[in-house]
Amino acid sequence: MSFKKFVVAVDGPAGTGKSTATKRIADRVGLIHVDTGALYRGIAFQCIEAGFDLNFDESDHAAITKIAQKTRLEFKRVKSRNPSNRLYANGKDVTSQIRTPEMSMMASRVSAVPGVRTALMDLQRTLGKAAPSILEGRDIGTVIFPDADVKFFLTASIDERAKRRLAEIEAQGGDAPSFEEMREQIRARDDGDSNRAIAPLKKAEDAIEIDTTRYTLDEVVDLMVSKIEAEK
Ligand code: DC
Repeated sequence: MSFKKFVVAVDGPAGTGKSTATKRIADRVGLIHVDTGALYRGIAFQCIEAGFDLNFDESDHAAITKIAQKTRLEFKRVKSRNPSNRLYANGKDVTSQIRTPEMSMMASRVSAVPGVRTALMDLQRTLGKAAPSILEGRDIGTVIFPDADVKFFLTASIDERAKRRLAEIEAQGGDAPSFEEMREQIRARDDGDSNRAIAPLKKAEDAIEIDTTRYTLDEVVDLMVSKIEAEK
């Protein structure tokens, strides 16, 4: 399949299978995968390195905005048996450090700072326009690419999302929290991402909504690929 300019937007809350589905679709359809959440995580990492924690308040917004403006973020694709996109912040590979539960919460917090969102806007658009792409995030179909060729909004019940996240952590050999703790972490992040003043998580009017609760990953991918192919 070949596209000239083509953008697919995939939005939705954490744990809906967005990342895994998007990666698979990118490989199958020949699109560049852009994980925009990783960019917010990269800024969260830089903020923690600079001494901020989850308790920052509005008086810190200017300093946090400056960090976002000054941080050079780059994806590098590593070719191996399991090809992956690594994230570099100011030349340092931060791929594994940005995946902790603390960094998830800090990313959600810094993503509500208006200056951070502005600082990451051009980069996301540049990445999306450089080649036919599939971008995943929270505001791709509403703010970053409101004219995307295909838009998806993925959802799943909170119990199902907690179950999936726990399975993921266990598969990676990490320390898994209890089911109740996991649910609470997801609920807190949903709350922050959906209720912030700027670019909150919400479905674009013209997005195709898929409730993934009762579908397998393969079924979700097949459904999304068929919608993308219909638009090419
Ligand atoms: O997709 P993720 O879990 O890696 O994203 C981490 C946080 O970044 C998420 O809680 C909200 C924020 N985010 C955002 O505000 N806008 C995006 N396009 C992507 C992520």
